[in-house]
Amino acid sequence: MDNSSVFVYCLAIGSAVGLGNVWRFPYIVHANGGGAFFIPYIIALVTTGIPLMILEMGVGQMFQGSAPAALRRVNRNFEWVGWFALGTASIISFYYAIIMAYSWQFLVESFWYAFDEALPWAKDAEGYFTAHVLNQATTESEIWQLQWPLVCGLAATWLAVFLIIHKGVHRVGRVVMVTVPLPVVLLIVLAIRGLTLPGAAAGIEYYLNPDFEVLKEPKVWLAAYGQVFFSLSLGFGIMIAYASYNRRRGDIANNAFITSLANCATSFLAGFVVFSVLGFLAFKEGGVPVGEVVKGGPDLAFVTYPLAISKLGDFGRFWPPLVAVLFFVTLLSLGIDSLFSLVEAAVAGLHDRFRFLTRNIVTAGLCATGFLAGLLFATRGGLAWVGVFDRWCSDYGLAFVGLVECLAIGYFFRTARLREYVNAFSEIHLGGWWELCIRLVTPIALTGLLGYQILTRELTGEGGDWRQDVAKIVFFGLLVLAFLLGRRKRLIAILGSGVVAYFVFEVWLSTAAALTGALALMILLGGLAICIGIALRGKDVEHHERTHGWPEEERRAHLPHAAAEDEDG
Ligand code: PHE
Repeated sequence: MDNSSVFVYCLAIGSAVGLGNVWRFPYIVHANGGGAFFIPYIIALVTTGIPLMILEMGVGQMFQGSAPAALRRVNRNFEWVGWFALGTASIISFYYAIIMAYSWQFLVESFWYAFDEALPWAKDAEGYFTAHVLNQATTESEIWQLQWPLVCGLAATWLAVFLIIHKGVHRVGRVVMVTVPLPVVLLIVLAIRGLTLPGAAAGIEYYLNPDFEVLKEPKVWLAAYGQVFFSLSLGFGIMIAYASYNRRRGDIANNAFITSLANCATSFLAGFVVFSVLGFLAFKEGGVPVGEVVKGGPDLAFVTYPLAISKLGDFGRFWPPLVAVLFFVTLLSLGIDSLFSLVEAAVAGLHDRFRFLTRNIVTAGLCATGFLAGLLFATRGGLAWVGVFDRWCSDYGLAFVGLVECLAIGYFFRTARLREYVNAFSEIHLGGWWELCIRLVTPIALTGLLGYQILTRELTGEGGDWRQDVAKIVFFGLLVLAFLLGRRKRLIAILGSGVVAYFVFEVWLSTAAALTGALALMILLGGLAICIGIALRGKDVEHHERTHGWPEEERRAHLPHAAAEDEDG
């Protein structure tokens, strides 16, 4: 393997290993049966995580393009999936950055008070986060006020992203040489500190103690699939863009395995960091059960963990600020490469399509947009928006893109061709299991995931406030935009009529009935469009090829048999 592909896979690992490993994984393990959760998790990893990782990397490397371009080369009907992936990735980057901004503020303020007798949040960690950092609005009129320290944190974050990727992330090797190993080293240091604290054993017991009963519940399996997906950064076009920077003959399967396993190992390690300290916190609170101090999501990283750190003073005055600084530097270094991977995927997509825009301009434009859009999350009502967009983009968007990707490769392209291509250059050879996973297992799992979430949340109207409606509109707006960019007029018409029908039906029917009605209408129109398409095919294809298509020679150059002549090594 040459240096450039080692480097590309460092980028992939950097993207996968992110904030999710620290605050999402440990909590999900604990909430879904502790040690027993590793069974569904590993099954999810092997049946969907790794196969889809191979698929994304394989498509990126074989077709040498960002998600929209590569998927267009798979089948021109699927370019829109790539655009939609980039759209959701961009929105995720907007709120991922605000979480980095929280970390900046905690980091800076831990320095401030290193000279004081205690860390600033020692007295009331919860209040510090909600009333000081977020300064959550108490009245409706306050929700749009900006929190200036967070705005500064956002600016710092986006500036860093711009400086790192504006020349092309695959050219600035030095950055990942820091952002990939640093958090792992820091996590090891934090784990050692955590495990040597009193009460740590109880915390770890709590983290790993298996409850096999829960394996009967579908929600545990869905949590495993969801976590594997999010954690491996799949379904955002990131791995496609990264793999396209590789030479055509790079190893794929081996690296997909390495990236996936390295990511899971980091998650597992982070569990020790988090739960050892939670055990200590429970011990300090007078031996309460560990379950009482456990929280998930932002609260874990910004309330519970900082609170535990502030209690380290017994071991020496320097421990609280030292561990605080180490922890927030860990979060920042974990987050930054995941964040720039999201932006990079979008930059690559736009740059591939709009060649007249230079990389610099696209990057600057996206970073500026990211900063401006991020201001929404930096307001005093910002945290509520984070939850809302997270639901639409990372829960639904990701599963949806993954599903369509599998269907596109599995049924509208010869999976065997991709498999042969991967096998030609990879040490690990893919067997028929891989195709089975792509065509059946993964689509079924993802349909289950999506269906379950829609049934339990959307149809029950859970957490439905006006913000949900805004996010819904943004989500469907992105879909329409993706169809426009993906040059699929008929699809736009069908989807558009579905959306209109949905809103019309919803005025006088329940959500479920409106959805069924809209869906039925779209299926009917879709069927009609396919029939008309078949009737008109001859003329249409020719015309399309002439007006918009990638030139045929270029397309042929991307087919695998051309690789033999492609002397790159
Ligand atoms: N994989 C990252 C994490 O675990 C999150 C992420 C998702 C990053 C999607 C980029 C894209 O935190």
